[in-house]
Amino acid sequence: MTQTQSIQSTDDGPGAQGAPLLEVRDVAVHFGGVKAVDGISLELQPGKIYGVLGPNGSGKSTLLGAMTRLTPMTRGAFLLDGVDYSRRPARSVHGMGIARTFQTVRLLEDRSVRDNILLGLDNASRAVRKGASARVEEVMERLGVRDIQRVRPDELSYGMQRRVEFARAIISRPRLLLLDEPTAGMNTAEREEIGALMRQLLDEGVTQFLVEHDVQMMVDTCDELFAMNFGKLIAHGTPGEVVRHPAVQEAYLGKGADRDA
Ligand SMILES: Nc1ncnc2c1ncn2[C@@H]1O[C@H](COP(=O)(O)OP(=O)(O)OP(=O)(O)O)[C@@H](O)[C@H]1O
Ligand SMILES: [Mg+2]
Repeated sequence: MTQTQSIQSTDDGPGAQGAPLLEVRDVAVHFGGVKAVDGISLELQPGKIYGVLGPNGSGKSTLLGAMTRLTPMTRGAFLLDGVDYSRRPARSVHGMGIARTFQTVRLLEDRSVRDNILLGLDNASRAVRKGASARVEEVMERLGVRDIQRVRPDELSYGMQRRVEFARAIISRPRLLLLDEPTAGMNTAEREEIGALMRQLLDEGVTQFLVEHDVQMMVDTCDELFAMNFGKLIAHGTPGEVVRHPAVQEAYLGKGADRDA
């Protein structure tokens, strides 16, 4: 395996890199005749922010769903730190340290913001759950939702709901955070805040896998990009390389350029 040096160096980063944090081996997810994910292999090194670009329907969310074991896969394997979790249930994968946000916000409408965030600890270890009350205060502060902790999600703007989801995802201190369009519906200032939060989390050792349509945000935030089209990887490299890649240009110009979220 190749030894990849971190492009970004941070003082308290994870240090020298070797084995991947996550290994995706020839994963496919077919829905009947639809090959939503069609043979993806990739590796995520710890201590980086990875981005995934691709036109609508290219399989990005399905890949995230398979990675968390919420979406059943047709073939392939996922390994976290060398441990094959391909047959484990989603809650066990969450307990291993993979957390996510959803493209379409999924919050319990009849529970408060605070309770929704605490749900992110359901599969956490006893040690992590022990610090729950301090931890929930901390993540509410970080996401700017402390003042609305007693409010129910249906009374919140879409951008605020996304913040609550983000808080729920990080409360368990995941090692790998999967973010599916976390800034959709946010304005530029809010997007920048989320970008800054992602860099902070990186400094704390949280590897991230970000799906976004906002190419500028991807270039500004990510260390490396992947591009998908029709369920396959069509490019991987530095943000500059991927954005300029002919196959990526063609995927965007050929279709879906009008469908940026
Ligand atoms: N549960 C499902 N059942 C059947 N088909 C599905 C299902 N989920 C996704 N698909 C199909 O799989 C393909 C990939 O969808 P997916 O949501 O993963 O794309 P995406 O890249 O996340 O798109 P977007 O940028 O619009 O979010 C699409 O053709 C979609 O219609
Ligand atoms: Mg999607």
